[in-house]
Amino acid sequence: MTTTSEVLKILEKNRATAVSGEWIAQELAISRTAVWKAIKALQEDGYIILATKNRGYQLDSGSDVLSAEGIKVFLNEGHQSYPIFVCKSIPSTNSEALKRAVDGASHGTVILSDEQTAGRGRSGKTFFSPANTGIYMSIVLCPEMRRANAYLITILAAVAVCKTIEKLTGKEPKIKWVNDVLLDGKKVCGILTEMVGDFESAMVDKVIVGIGMNVRTANTQFPQELRSIAASLFPENVTRNQIVAEIINELMHSYARFDSAAFVEEYKKRSLILGKTIQYTRNGSPCSGLVVDISPSGNLVVRDDTGGTYTLPSGEKK
Ligand code: BTN
Repeated sequence: MTTTSEVLKILEKNRATAVSGEWIAQELAISRTAVWKAIKALQEDGYIILATKNRGYQLDSGSDVLSAEGIKVFLNEGHQSYPIFVCKSIPSTNSEALKRAVDGASHGTVILSDEQTAGRGRSGKTFFSPANTGIYMSIVLCPEMRRANAYLITILAAVAVCKTIEKLTGKEPKIKWVNDVLLDGKKVCGILTEMVGDFESAMVDKVIVGIGMNVRTANTQFPQELRSIAASLFPENVTRNQIVAEIINELMHSYARFDSAAFVEEYKKRSLILGKTIQYTRNGSPCSGLVVDISPSGNLVVRDDTGGTYTLPSGEKK
């Protein structure tokens, strides 16, 4: 760990109070000049650090720079060892995570970027990912499960995002099938789950969970076509690092209890699709039906005009 990183760790841990240069120097067994140099380097990197002669150094409450050090302050004990990589700008954290997964990235590896220049959404769409205002993260999971079950990880991730928003903001997000998280009817978060697996086998080798969240993107920053459908979280006194950490805590906690499928019940509580009439195809014919349930394996259960129920084979509505 570099000196700058050690100093940042101390500042992130002590956000509420100022810490003196002398204390930091003693703690890290370095000179006060080295502390001062580290503070300068952090300021050049965009950290807003208040420096007062008598009290010392303190991160300003508005300082919201993504960092592994800042995230680890909020990560639960069991998640501290996950490798976390934070980039300034890359095309797509999912593409980067996919590459690293193929190269052997371990379970729990997290890739974050302050900005994505080619953020990817579902169905080949792009994901608007401007700098400083959002969270663009991908988590590598190494499940030993069948491809069909891996689909459930999307559902698990949507619940983890909702629980994080509820805990940190007190707001009540809803989930639009299958993985858009909405606040007051507007999308604040999208999830793209991708897999690495052997084409021949039905098993999944690695799953990449990509999460994109609008945290402080002003409405006028969105491209015109998104302004009426996208929104931001605008959390008070909560940093992006804290949101990222809480998503990891929630996601990994539920993932460790994957077999119970308790998250499907949590998903149902927040889902907007239950009670809606949807269109789908059955044996090649177009049908419509009322969504009456989501099965433990994450499939929609619909009731059609005849009163019979039918479980849609894939997670998608048609
Ligand atoms: C969607 O809404 O269609 C899914 C959007 C997923 C966006 C996230 S941002 C982090 C990760 N990297 C990407 O390129 N996409 C996902």
